[in-house]
Amino acid sequence: MVVLTNIGLLATPLGSGPAAGDCQGEISLAQDQVLWIDGPQICGIYPRQKAPAPPTGATVVDAQGLLVTPGLIDCHTHLVFGGWRQHEVPLKLRGASYLEILQMGGGILDTVRQTRQWSEEDLYTRAVSFLDDMLRLGVTTAECKSGYGLSLSQELKQLQVQRKLQQTHSVEIVSTFLGAHAVPPEYEGRSDAYTQLVCQEILPAVAQGHWAEFCDVFCEEGVFTVSQSRKILQTGQELGLASKIHADEIAAIGGSQLAGELGAISAEHLIAISPEGIQALAAGGVIADLLPATSFYLKKPYAPARELIRQNVPVAIASDFNPGSCPSYNLQFAINLAYLYYSMTPEEILTAVTRNAAASLHRSHKIGTLEVGKQADLVIWNAKDLQTLCYRFGSNLVHTVFKKGKIV
Ligand code: NIG
Ligand code: FE
Repeated sequence: MVVLTNIGLLATPLGSGPAAGDCQGEISLAQDQVLWIDGPQICGIYPRQKAPAPPTGATVVDAQGLLVTPGLIDCHTHLVFGGWRQHEVPLKLRGASYLEILQMGGGILDTVRQTRQWSEEDLYTRAVSFLDDMLRLGVTTAECKSGYGLSLSQELKQLQVQRKLQQTHSVEIVSTFLGAHAVPPEYEGRSDAYTQLVCQEILPAVAQGHWAEFCDVFCEEGVFTVSQSRKILQTGQELGLASKIHADEIAAIGGSQLAGELGAISAEHLIAISPEGIQALAAGGVIADLLPATSFYLKKPYAPARELIRQNVPVAIASDFNPGSCPSYNLQFAINLAYLYYSMTPEEILTAVTRNAAASLHRSHKIGTLEVGKQADLVIWNAKDLQTLCYRFGSNLVHTVFKKGKIV
């Protein structure tokens, strides 16, 4: 038993499932609390005056009057990859766009070349170092997308690394299959044929081996069309994989409408989303997974978070960590950007990186809020209130991280 005493402010959303509209900002802010942990689970939360004496043998941890929140959940990353892409930045600064670099065989395809060459062991070792650092930054669960293999064996190699991370690392990993992340060089100019390969060979193997829970597609101008994306996501659904979609990152070609039509769990990016796209997400009950650090790094506009909230679309916020459009896994920085550029309130932001992120990973029953019966994934912050967390940037404000009831 662990008893966490002297919590200055316990800030947490309450309940399960995604919170939309005004509910996104309705969280519990309780001062002077004590939290009891039994094994991996929270078993009691009390105001200090009403807290029973700690049971004999309990480990008492003093939270020093600081802020405590649920552990952060990064619900969109691409964290298993070989190499880096630092050589792209000068091209970008000379005016080349993200899609132009991809069309020249660079971008995602550059990382595909490097990832194919790296051994499973090397990919694993480096991903572990990323996750160690993410944990220090307060992230206790992370989604991880494949998509740098783009062939059956290479996608399975990447998914195997993700499975090993799942089995060995304190950060819980949720796997998403993103075989349709780009058209591989062997299929250049034949995106329909690659779509067919994904549907007929790769996806069935991924489903059969239970390699991923979700299926994602990069639905974008010059990458996968809406009709190709529909085929892939529908095939995934038939095989038991829930849908996610990279939609409206650069151009609004109908990805959000497709997300609504298919009842995707989340539509991700949405920088260029149209009013019709927003309505489709609201009608389909789709979570908007927004990635402000990608807007920052691509020098693009910020997704219309306020409008999404106004129209009752639940908003989650994630890092999008990848070697091209966002070489940072610092979710605290994404929080700062959401505060300043999405104009979200600290309360809405907390919901976005905990409860709504959990919902977008089908993990609402277990994580995302601090309530009796939920997993004891939490962060003690070097801050007294949520506003400070959103305001300070560039340094790590984490004091202590608990994962499944243990200090990590
Ligand atoms: O979410 N846009 C597609 N995928 C990633 C970028 C991947 C990469 O550039 O390596 C994204 O931005
Ligand atoms: Fe992404």
